[in-house]
Amino acid sequence: MDSNKRPETMERINTEALAQAFIDDQVGRLQGQIGDKKVLLALSGGVDSSVVAALLIKAIGTQLVCVHVNHGLMRKGESQQVIEVFKNQMGANLVYVDAADRFLDKLAGVTAPEQKRKIIGGEFIRVFEEEARKLEGIAFLAQGTIYPDILESHGVKAHHNVGGLPEDMCFELVEPIKLLFKDEVRVVGKALGLPDGMVYRQPFPGPGLGVRCVGAITRDRLEAVRESDAILREEFARAGLDKTVWQYFTVVPDFRSTGVKDGKRSFEWPVIIRAVNTVDAMNATIEQVNWPLLQKITDRITHEVTGVNRVLYDLTPKPTGTIEWE
Ligand code: XMP
Repeated sequence: MDSNKRPETMERINTEALAQAFIDDQVGRLQGQIGDKKVLLALSGGVDSSVVAALLIKAIGTQLVCVHVNHGLMRKGESQQVIEVFKNQMGANLVYVDAADRFLDKLAGVTAPEQKRKIIGGEFIRVFEEEARKLEGIAFLAQGTIYPDILESHGVKAHHNVGGLPEDMCFELVEPIKLLFKDEVRVVGKALGLPDGMVYRQPFPGPGLGVRCVGAITRDRLEAVRESDAILREEFARAGLDKTVWQYFTVVPDFRSTGVKDGKRSFEWPVIIRAVNTVDAMNATIEQVNWPLLQKITDRITHEVTGVNRVLYDLTPKPTGTIEWE
């Protein structure tokens, strides 16, 4: 039987009881496959890698080594949440790598979107490889491959980026959720006790805030993206929109405009808000956010975020715009 094909008889996991049965079954299988060996996992904090981490912690405890690479392009509070949930609450064997300077130095002055993506992806593999070489006795590499990855890209999980390890680093793969659809991964994650903020979070691109700091990334403008994104997420959550809107974020372009602040002229960046709905990310429509909420977010961003004097709302559906700005 092809282990990459979902059996037609496999029931859709949509209840706590079915999730629990899946977890019990997988824990047994993982223990059988892994024995007393060690497993390595790149833990980004996204839904898929988080669910794989929680499953493996349940199955083999500290034989799992999680590596969390903070590339400096994470959203506000994200790396801290990974440490809090996995290390502090679940007792995971977690290696935290603060590689922000390394990524930002490599990205300095680079303006082309695909070049930025290449640098971020390439650097990620190098950092992960360095950490893997420091560890002894790793036999397996765990990956958060899910069924759509297998259907769409023949099993290569592009945004996990660990597929590019050099040939001498030969690990056997552990992919416990490879036959699950995204909604099932979330049900399993919930049953494993992961927080809602992790289980139901919106899609976040591998290159992180790097593709939302348009053009050459500078540290101050990146902070403006991170802080404005945090305000948008907070206000959307307060209004209940975090449960209904598919993806929402802020973008800071690399130009300034004139404004007035505290009775003086300012020359600062605009923040662009984007909030879209879609089924498959191929086409997207714009969320019709109510006016008072937009005004409140504008007020907060222009007062709380350093270097920003305007807020714009992107009304462009996909097509003609893509969801991200780069
Ligand atoms: P676009 O901008 O192409 O985005 O309309 C469609 C969806 O894909 C996400 N996206 C990415 N995800 N690496 C990722 O892992 C990337 O380089 C990347 N670029 C876009 C985007 O956030 C949206 O959900």
